[in-house]
Amino acid sequence: MLGRDLVACAPADVRLTALDRAGCDVTDPEAVARAIDAAAPDWVLNAAAYTAVDRAEAARAEAMRLNGDAPGVIGRAAAAAGIRVLQPSTDYVFPGTGDRPWREDDAPDPVNWYGTTKLAGERALAASGAQHLVVRVQWLYGAHGTSFPRTMLARARAGQATRVVDDQQGAPTPTDALASGLWTLVQCGAEGTLHVAAGGVATWYEVAARIFAWAGRPGLVTPCASADYPTPARRPANGVLDTSRAAALGVALPPWRAGLETWLAARSGVAGTYPNE
Ligand SMILES: NC(=O)c1ccc[n+]([C@@H]2O[C@H](COP(=O)([O-])OP(=O)(O)OC[C@H]3O[C@@H](n4cnc5c(N)ncnc54)[C@H](OP(=O)(O)O)[C@@H]3O)[C@@H](O)[C@H]2O)c1
Repeated sequence: MLGRDLVACAPADVRLTALDRAGCDVTDPEAVARAIDAAAPDWVLNAAAYTAVDRAEAARAEAMRLNGDAPGVIGRAAAAAGIRVLQPSTDYVFPGTGDRPWREDDAPDPVNWYGTTKLAGERALAASGAQHLVVRVQWLYGAHGTSFPRTMLARARAGQATRVVDDQQGAPTPTDALASGLWTLVQCGAEGTLHVAAGGVATWYEVAARIFAWAGRPGLVTPCASADYPTPARRPANGVLDTSRAAALGVALPPWRAGLETWLAARSGVAGTYPNE
């Protein structure tokens, strides 16, 4: 999802080599070294990840290999080549307690395995010796891939009554705006850890309610508590990210409602339901 928009939003003066899994398995040190050698880049942007949060609870080793180990594999190859790495991470590295937005230097303490693996990836990259930028993001959706808004739109169009949790907070973030912001950070040579998310704060229910209303089915969606909707992975209640450091570098994404309206408008001609949802 993010990888395709990083390609679509690449600035005109960037020469980009985009590789899928077949082109470079990021868990394979030799494949990563070969890819870096062939492209001779200034930066590696790693959009590969294990993102199925609930499935990760059972597929522990696979999720750790991709999210926890691969950033170290890429980092070591990048350090040897003297190039930089951009690694997306997640608000799920935080425990979700409290009621103020999470700052970059707040202590992480993940509540699920996905968050644990992403935190391990941040640390493996830092330990690799490569110059790097970790950007924690959240609640992504876009033109490609599966996402919460896409699932909600399919359910609304199919007329399915839907309960959605109303006690987890964050900001649904469109991957095209995020990708443009990431390119800005790459081009200004940002380093360390930054938080980037759409503006404002939402609950999943508020996002779903907007989508069901847009689809003309507002009565089909009702709020519930996380306790009433058990999932294999726990989610943080407060995932709100403090994005002021990135904003100071010129990267402030539009409010989440505006991003969602744009995404919905682009789907007005798309009928039917989606596979696997
Ligand atoms: N989605 C969210 O809501 C969210 C929230 C917070 C943070 N993030 C982070 O944002 C980044 C982008 O997420 P996304 O949602 O765009 O991910 P995504 O849509 O799930 O895409 C992940 C990609 O990784 C590829 N991949 C899997 N194993 C690979 C391997 N061994 N080598 C190379 N590529 C491999 C997958 O290829 P196949 O298609 O072949 O499987 C897929 O194209 C990730 O770092 C993620 O952790 C995402």
